[in-house]
Amino acid sequence: MFVHFFVVLVAGVTLVRCADLQGLYALVQRRLPSHALSFVFHQVDGEGDSFNVTDTSILGGVTVSCTTTSACARGLYVYLTDRVGVDIWWTGSRLDNFPLFLPRVGGILSGKAIVPYRYHFNAVTFGYTTVFWSFDQWELLLDWLALRGVNIPLAWVGYEYTLLEVFRDAGLSDDEISSFPSGPPFLPWNRYGNIQGSWGGPLPAQWINDQFELQKKIVQRMVELGMTPVLPAFTGFVPSALATHYPDADITPASPWGAFPRSVTPTHFLHPSDPLFSTLQKSFISKQKAAYGNVSNIYTLDQYNENDPTSGDTTYLHNVAANTFASLRAVDPQAIWLMSGWLFVSSHAFWTLDRIRAYLGGVPGTDSMIILDLYSESNPRWDRLQSYFGKSWVWCELHDFGGNMGMEGNLQQLTTQPLVALGSPGSSMKGMGLTMEGQEGNEIVYDILLDQAWSSTSLNISDYGRKWVERRYHNSGLPPSVYEAWSVLDASAYNNQNAAIQATIKSIFEVVPSLSGLVGKTGHHGTLIPYDTNTTIARSLRLLAQAGTEDRSLLNIPEFNYDIVDISRQLLANRFIDAYNKLVSTYSSSSADAVAAAGQPLLDILKDLDSVLATNENFLLAKWIRDARNWAGNNETYAAYLEYNARTQITLWGPNGEVNDYASKQWAGLVGDYYLSRWQNFTSYLVETKRNRASYSDAIVKRNMIAIGQSWDREIFAGPWEVQGDTFATVQMMLLKYA
Ligand SMILES: *[C@@H]1O[C@H](CO)[C@@H](O)[C@H](O)[C@H]1NC(C)=O
Ligand SMILES: *[C@@H]1O[C@H](CO)[C@@H](O)[C@H](O)[C@H]1NC(C)=O
Ligand SMILES: *[C@@H]1O[C@H](CO)[C@@H](O)[C@H](O)[C@H]1NC(C)=O
Ligand SMILES: *[C@@H]1O[C@H](CO)[C@@H](O)[C@H](O)[C@H]1NC(C)=O
Ligand SMILES: *[C@@H]1O[C@H](CO)[C@@H](O)[C@H](O)[C@H]1NC(C)=O
Ligand SMILES: *[C@@H]1O[C@H](CO)[C@@H](O)[C@H](O)[C@H]1NC(C)=O
Repeated sequence: MFVHFFVVLVAGVTLVRCADLQGLYALVQRRLPSHALSFVFHQVDGEGDSFNVTDTSILGGVTVSCTTTSACARGLYVYLTDRVGVDIWWTGSRLDNFPLFLPRVGGILSGKAIVPYRYHFNAVTFGYTTVFWSFDQWELLLDWLALRGVNIPLAWVGYEYTLLEVFRDAGLSDDEISSFPSGPPFLPWNRYGNIQGSWGGPLPAQWINDQFELQKKIVQRMVELGMTPVLPAFTGFVPSALATHYPDADITPASPWGAFPRSVTPTHFLHPSDPLFSTLQKSFISKQKAAYGNVSNIYTLDQYNENDPTSGDTTYLHNVAANTFASLRAVDPQAIWLMSGWLFVSSHAFWTLDRIRAYLGGVPGTDSMIILDLYSESNPRWDRLQSYFGKSWVWCELHDFGGNMGMEGNLQQLTTQPLVALGSPGSSMKGMGLTMEGQEGNEIVYDILLDQAWSSTSLNISDYGRKWVERRYHNSGLPPSVYEAWSVLDASAYNNQNAAIQATIKSIFEVVPSLSGLVGKTGHHGTLIPYDTNTTIARSLRLLAQAGTEDRSLLNIPEFNYDIVDISRQLLANRFIDAYNKLVSTYSSSSADAVAAAGQPLLDILKDLDSVLATNENFLLAKWIRDARNWAGNNETYAAYLEYNARTQITLWGPNGEVNDYASKQWAGLVGDYYLSRWQNFTSYLVETKRNRASYSDAIVKRNMIAIGQSWDREIFAGPWEVQGDTFATVQMMLLKYA
């Protein structure tokens, strides 16, 4: 062992450590401390992003050479996943989980990115997933991203600090400004100009300051890890008071959004043709550069996300883009404008081909803009829009709305369609990336896309699935039933061939109860289950439970426990549909007592589901609430504000249910409390109407649900804060009962 370290150390000091690669040495120190001296990184000249991994000497150590820092990170990842059999997950880093000696590379491991950009983040993930994260939580995800080879992540934390300084400099008072930003989990939509103001009280100054400090750390870490942060810019959305201070400025209301009252929407838009726009842009970008350094020339800027332009005139649209871009270039001569292409999906009636051509045509050249083809796996637009008229664009996997948790995916599509797009005649595709709205489960469908970005041929799904589960449970000699369980999932839930199911599946117990319209829905919040539960979900859970009985060491693996809870969750969620269907048919033909009896199984499933979820720390409402409250220290007023915002996000999505149930979650404490009380109320209401021979009314149910939501959102969580019960024992009980 001494000899091993000595030689590696010598190798380490004889090679000059490139300053740009220090972040990777720090990553190794952080994630593989006992092997910190075993890795050598060095950068060579070369095109694109490529790496070679070799043995440093016959006595040990690993050398990664690369053309970019991102490629070196990816090289390290390929060695760790392919040769060592370990990985880093959303549930934690297991990179140090292997025996003392590093396996040899034995030859050479090479790789080359097939696209220059690997992107990560949907703008709304900063509301649905990361909003309350501490830097420790960020650190895990940033390592996850860097190792997988992502090089242009969105860096959207702490935007308000700079923006509000810009407004202050422009002469607005704190009062005029404070009515503008939304509550923490709703900020993405404020940045998009959809809504303004914060319910439950104005956004506290402490939040704005703390997030700014957090962003400095995030940006610095991204840079150290070879990623170019995609930074915010001034978009044009302003507090209405700006118009009072600048009566001649061209400021008009944007479009109203959702079912919100007038105080919340529309916001106001300062038109880019007005010289004030350019002044505020200069102010914004200068302040941002002063805060974070000269670290990026890529800016995220969206003006029309679910927000239509005031005019459809093509000259007008051309000028908006031209002036917006000119404002960026005036302050950063290398500025690249990154925009989401979601508007071309969500507002396709407005965005005709001519209008899109005019708008994009306002920006000169092809490389000065990057468009995210946000929903490429289900609703691509690049193909109908002539590859965005030659502008650079990124093939993105959206897959998840609001962090909804149903198992779903299409591995086949993810391993073939990006290559088709890249190889299509005249393609200007320059990247691949992930744009899920929330990060909850289904990790394999995200891993495979980021891995496909480094392979010019389609990954072989069965080989991939096998290696993936081996490193997930870090064991290459798993019981055969584990492989079988995952091949069943990869061929069913993750091989969705029903084009009408386009994203994670929503469970019907997460939506407002009704006697109709819940089951079998398609579209982007589909509830249709496109596989047979008994032969897929139930079967794979049974197989994994069998593996856990055969090899008890699996029960110590956090990802194994996560998976059996997640699959149990899907099993019970699907069984709920059967129970619900029975309740509906009973209601149409039977007595009040029969209805009461038919309602009970629904409530039992929710209680059972809560008890399985409660055994795993990743499925706790307590975690979401604790993360939120942590930002308040011991200021109870502030903590209550954050908790209220956290609760409304996952339930009513607005003070009065404006976007009700959009970001629903299946977490212990939410299922066994919130959803249970809603279904209790609903089943009691059904019994009551039967008994009183009253007619059933959806409007009454809806009103009851909003009332339940408003009172639940005002509660303060009283625990339990920690996991309850044993995972494996609880899962086995669920198998007996529901499989
Ligand atoms: C990888 O090795 C090949 C030769 O085997 C060489 O041509 C290439 O430049 C190397 N790339 C890097 C990044 O070291
Ligand atoms: C910022 O960085 C870019 C790219 O590294 C460089 O071209 C530019 O000159 C720098 N700008 C300033 C003001 O230092
Ligand atoms: C994937 O690899 C397996 C062998 O590991 C092979 O049997 C199968 O045909 C391959 N599938 C495809 C689509 O190439
Ligand atoms: C699935 O299994 C359940 C429970 O064993 C059973 O009641 C049901 O009939 C099965 N459904 C199908 C479609 O086979
Ligand atoms: C506690 O938070 C509230 C709301 O953000 C704030 O107004 C108040 O000043 C804070 N109190 C203390 C003691 O910091
Ligand atoms: C349902 O909830 C509403 C609102 O809280 C309440 O007024 C009503 O009494 C409840 N109905 C039943 C049957 O529990």
